[in-house]
Amino acid sequence: MNHFHYRNGVLHAEDVPVAEIAAAVGTPFYCYSSATLERHYRVFESAVPKNTLIAYAVKANGNLSVIKTLAALGAGADIVSAGELKRALAGGVPAAKIVFSGVGKKRSEIAAALDAGIFQFNVEGEYELDLLNEVALSKGVRAKFALRVNPDVDAKTHAKISTGKAENKFGVGWSRVRGAYAHAATLPGLEAVGVAAHIGSQITELEPFRQTFAKLVGLVSTLRADGHKISRIDFGGGLGVPYRQDGPLPPDPASYGAVVREALGGLDAQLVLEPGRLIVANAGILVAEVISVKKGDEKEFIILDAGMNDLIRPAMYDAWHDIVPVREPGSVQRRVYDVVGPVCESADLFARDRELPPLSAGDLVAILTAGAYGAVQGSSYNARPLAPEVLVKGRQFAVTRPRQTVDEMIAQERWPDWLL
Ligand code: LLP
Repeated sequence: MNHFHYRNGVLHAEDVPVAEIAAAVGTPFYCYSSATLERHYRVFESAVPKNTLIAYAVKANGNLSVIKTLAALGAGADIVSAGELKRALAGGVPAAKIVFSGVGKKRSEIAAALDAGIFQFNVEGEYELDLLNEVALSKGVRAKFALRVNPDVDAKTHAKISTGKAENKFGVGWSRVRGAYAHAATLPGLEAVGVAAHIGSQITELEPFRQTFAKLVGLVSTLRADGHKISRIDFGGGLGVPYRQDGPLPPDPASYGAVVREALGGLDAQLVLEPGRLIVANAGILVAEVISVKKGDEKEFIILDAGMNDLIRPAMYDAWHDIVPVREPGSVQRRVYDVVGPVCESADLFARDRELPPLSAGDLVAILTAGAYGAVQGSSYNARPLAPEVLVKGRQFAVTRPRQTVDEMIAQERWPDWLL
């Protein structure tokens, strides 16, 4: 469910014609809907147990206005760097609702999070227990942590976004978990408060969640019997979203919530969840202009002014994104195109052999479900400035991040003495 719809023959973001934004900011640009963000957050919140800390995974979309919109609804944040810590705080997330995940935390990042007074660290390995202990002691505090465990569960998603198998770099191997908590208990700068796992992203079956949650709940009992005061359980994020209007629907938040409740049973522990994609993916589109329609010997190409530097998901994960024209097509004969960008890579391809209404130079298109892992994974490859981000609310829209300029890119560099 989202708020990008045709009205009077043109695509609207809530009550704003998308073409009006394009005329004001140029293309390409990301456009987010406040109403969709709010709806997704509320639907998720009502599907999971009351008093769950919903730590929105900032990595999915770190735009400050997106974070602030969610923070106003009560969201916490799941962060993976000092940069995301700053963003979450700047977006108005209270430190007491911030969970610090991430497989390679540096001393300086741990220090910044301790200074801020975050909710908990999700520790990814034995070495990190020692480091966290050391930094906490140097500040005269005790750091609350959950161990992120690797449950060795197959999330049945794309290999590049699967994180819970024993072969993945994430979490502490299942056989080492009790030993790690026992070690932590000897470290005076640490306070074990929870257990955590996150098995991957764009997960479209409930079974991997069921298996993981059961393992974590069992682990809480084991650790309590070992004498640890475990009061929190973090099930991670990962619930998938529909990328295709004509495809099968992934489980909805209500069914996911039922699996969560069933797994928890009567467990007395504070639940933490870390959804990212589910909240933001369908709240965002990437709008681009057709530069040209080019006939090859075998194919017809639509060349957009957005490229893989703006949205890398198709190139990186073979991801499908629906693409629609901004002007409603009506019942015309469709054609088969490869939709590509202007970047000098064959991987700069948004859709292969895609049926679309006939398009021509100057037409606008929207690449859908681009709110998660879109702008955040953007780059300025080919010296292409980062695309702007626009937030819509009702009939209003605002450029929340202006288009980067080439002059800004150049101004960031320095000449070495010998080239002056
Ligand atoms: N928690 C942790 C520790 C994570 O690593 C992630 C995502 C999340 C929560 C949020 O997962 P979500 O609910 O969004 O599935 N760039 C890839 C996705 C990478 C996901 C990384 N971790 C993509 O575009 O598909």
